[in-house]
Amino acid sequence: MRFYVISLLVLLPALMLLSLLKPFVVGFVEKPIGSEAAVAQPVIGDAMRGEALFLSKCAGCHLPEARFGPHLNTADFQARYAEDADLVFAIRSGREPMPAFTRERLSDQKLADLIAYLRSLSPEK
Ligand code: HEC
Repeated sequence: MRFYVISLLVLLPALMLLSLLKPFVVGFVEKPIGSEAAVAQPVIGDAMRGEALFLSKCAGCHLPEARFGPHLNTADFQARYAEDADLVFAIRSGREPMPAFTRERLSDQKLADLIAYLRSLSPEK
């Protein structure tokens, strides 16, 4: 009999303590590992940020006054690069003398911002 009383005295507080800890333990265990990385978030470009990026990274060659890289807002350009994927490919791979803008140089978010900016330009005749 004494044994049961003592074990009850020990077990009850232990159980209460466990139930107090449970939310923390369960929260930790139930969180799927790498969930943030596994679900690709759609990257939404922001034309305002894209403009600033364009001015710092591309305008030196691509502005009309620079006369070095082709203009990126002609009707012809917009027709050829109607698909974002083609623009992404051109910018990521580069073409002599244009450097390849790899992910280290330009994050996916920044690339999306740049593309949003290029898409916001009205076609030049
Ligand atoms: C060092 C100068 C330089 C820089 C910096 C540069 N470009 Fe270029 N870019 C060029 C040149 C030159 C070409 C044409 C290459 C060719 O067709 O032979 C080109 C081509 C392109 C094309 C393909 C155009 C077409 O008509 O097919 C795209 C798109 C482009 N650049 C986007 C960008 C973007 C966006 C940036 C900034 C992140 C950038 N470039 C930075 C020089 C540059």
